Amino acid sequence: MADAEKNETAVEPAAAATPNVTEVETVDAATEEEAVAALEAKVDRGEPILQVRNLVKHFPLTQGILFKRQIGAVKAVDGISFDLYQGETLGIVGESGCGKSTVAKLLMTLETATAGEVFYKGQDITKLSGRALRAVRRNIQMVFQDPYTSLNPRMTVGDIIGEPFEIHPEVAPKGDRRRRVQELLDVVGLNPEYINRYPHQFSGGQRQRIGIARGLALNPEIIICDEPVSALDVSVQAQVINLMEGLQDEFNLSYIFIAHDLSIVRHISDRVGVMYLGKMAEIGSDTEIYDHPTHPYTQALLSAVPVPDPESREGRERIILTGDVPSPANPPSGCRFRTRCWKAEDKCAKEIPLLAIPERFANTDSPAAHESACHFAEEKDVVHA
Ligand SMILES: Nc1ncnc2c1ncn2[C@@H]1O[C@H](COP(=O)(O)OP(=O)(O)OP(=O)(O)O)[C@@H](O)[C@H]1O
Ligand code: SF4
Ligand SMILES: [Mg+2]
Repeated sequence: MADAEKNETAVEPAAAATPNVTEVETVDAATEEEAVAALEAKVDRGEPILQVRNLVKHFPLTQGILFKRQIGAVKAVDGISFDLYQGETLGIVGESGCGKSTVAKLLMTLETATAGEVFYKGQDITKLSGRALRAVRRNIQMVFQDPYTSLNPRMTVGDIIGEPFEIHPEVAPKGDRRRRVQELLDVVGLNPEYINRYPHQFSGGQRQRIGIARGLALNPEIIICDEPVSALDVSVQAQVINLMEGLQDEFNLSYIFIAHDLSIVRHISDRVGVMYLGKMAEIGSDTEIYDHPTHPYTQALLSAVPVPDPESREGRERIILTGDVPSPANPPSGCRFRTRCWKAEDKCAKEIPLLAIPERFANTDSPAAHESACHFAEEKDVVHA
């Protein structure tokens, strides 16, 4: 077996396929319900490390060759607000084209925001430039979707992982870089002797480990993961997810985890945000979103997840969404989901629903008391995997 393969299969397949079972503190509660309530109780998360406020990204649509004139804009992200807390994972889900990657690029300052603010430890990074921006960038890193195209095929693994040190030599002085890269290879479960190999000499899972090592190189506090396991086999996905969870505990990292796969997002996330057409439709803890969704779009997304257990499947109501996703260049008035929503009323076309805790659930212990951008937010029993 090649060395590369050996390393990939180092994790027991059975263990890899099983979600990480972390030790849960014993809860001194009289009944099972009390124990569950205690575990689901709202936790004090402290100060947010990242605060996103009314973030907007409009890509101009232009016409003409010599004299370009703007004829409209793709409203890829259109007024999004959320917080990220130290040490947590915030999952972001939503259909293709809803703006997830654009949010990631805005947070990385790879795209310039059209409007809005992103506060990192209280400082608006959308207004920074030069050295101040470089200092912030060091603390916010990204892991990309496709480990096949995101690594330069002509660079050795050592150069790929060590490249960020060129921009931030203060993290690892020249003489210490080789040792530091080997340490990073070890941290992500790769043999430090692979330092001189090229990306094509690794499997997909191993390449994603290289991407993660590069993301860790500058000791960041936040890692934005845009579909980090979507291009990998299911068993390799579990290995990479387990690695990411281990690294999060070890280095107290905060993750923004963007993915299509709702079960993976639930497994890794503390909180989940659901995006639709450039807006946040609903945001809450994993239990609130998966077991008590109040936004019709979230309910439809969850009901589309295949349920393997035939008994749970029986009598299950599937919500079939009709109509295409509208163009982000010309979104519907009022609620953006109204053209596909089975509950839509006149009000939905006239008034934009704000992302807020629905009034009737505010100040209650109900799991429905989380932010939802729907005029008629209410719980609906959705059976899903
Ligand atoms: N540079 C750009 N210029 C013009 N439009 C863009 C640009 N980048 C993204 N868009 C548009 O913005 C919208 C959101 O794109 P984005 O890549 O953020 O979606 P996404 O949610 O990440 O989708 P996917 O799940 O397919 O990765 C899409 O309509 C896309 O076509
Ligand atoms: S505001 Fe109206 S259209 Fe939008 S999700 Fe709620 S019920 Fe549906
Ligand atoms: Mg994307």
